[in-house]
Amino acid sequence: MAAAAEEAGCRRVGFVGAGRMAEAIAQGLIQAGKVEAEHVLASAPSDKNLCRFRAMGCQTTHSNPEVLHSCSLVFFATKPHILPAVLVEVAPAVTAEHILVSVAAGVSLSTLEELLPPTTRVLRVSPNLPCIVQEGAMVMARGRHAGSYEAQLLRSLLEACGQCEEVPEAQVDVHTGLSGSGVAFVCAFSEALAEGAIKMGMPSGLAHRIAAQTLLGTAKVLLQKGQHPAQLRTDVCTPGGTTIYGLHALEQGGLRATAMSAVEAATCRARELSRK
Ligand SMILES: NC(=O)c1ccc[n+]([C@@H]2O[C@H](COP(=O)([O-])OP(=O)(O)OC[C@H]3O[C@@H](n4cnc5c(N)ncnc54)[C@H](OP(=O)(O)O)[C@@H]3O)[C@@H](O)[C@H]2O)c1
Repeated sequence: MAAAAEEAGCRRVGFVGAGRMAEAIAQGLIQAGKVEAEHVLASAPSDKNLCRFRAMGCQTTHSNPEVLHSCSLVFFATKPHILPAVLVEVAPAVTAEHILVSVAAGVSLSTLEELLPPTTRVLRVSPNLPCIVQEGAMVMARGRHAGSYEAQLLRSLLEACGQCEEVPEAQVDVHTGLSGSGVAFVCAFSEALAEGAIKMGMPSGLAHRIAAQTLLGTAKVLLQKGQHPAQLRTDVCTPGGTTIYGLHALEQGGLRATAMSAVEAATCRARELSRK
């Protein structure tokens, strides 16, 4: 058994729900050597997604309780509206040995705790799609019975899928607006940058590759230097040069106010869905 999970006494890591997010997390854990593929067990009603787990060398089942019987650390990665019924189904199999982690957007820790036996150790993670390439931006919050040990264990595992920081639960919906939905906002910006270049005569494929690489490179500089974006923007901006002309056009289009409104709208929607 690979180091991180073994140290924690987690003989196997389980996934209830085997879709895109479960696969992304499992792939990160296996590729980073945190867990061996044969010690991963995933469940789902159909074989539609389970075949990809089998292709990674993982075990699969159609029985959710079997995952709980076999694994002490279990990720719940069904769609949010399905999760309550799944928790009720597996609750009789939950013991004090389990550490349960939900990645479902908008399902609160108190809802998770209400549906599981008292004192169950529960954590909530908000991931985003770049976990697929081990560049996720994740936050996690812990339930009433999960301590720093469980939080540290989960963080050390999820580092295989990108960055993971612990936050108060109130910030999880903000993360959904900023980073879960933010992937789509950044795609819209990347597409728009490329289309500007296409308008100016660059071939489409090249324009999209350059736009995406520009986002990647800029993000790396910001993260590696720990710089505020305003500083990097100023560094690129020669007085009277090309960039300030372009920035003026962005300000006229209200780029920053629009981006702030997008995060606000997505966060409000996440909060609204949490209350339902
Ligand atoms: N995708 C993202 O960018 C993202 C970001 C943040 C959070 N999330 C959260 O991640 C969760 C999963 O999202 P996803 O995009 O991975 O969804 P998905 O690809 O649709 O996968 C859902 C999985 O749940 C399985 N499932 C359905 N009913 C089930 C049941 N009764 N018991 C066990 N498994 C069941 C499905 O089975 P089949 O394989 O048989 O269809 C499928 O494997 C969601 O709660 C979402 O809020 C996703």
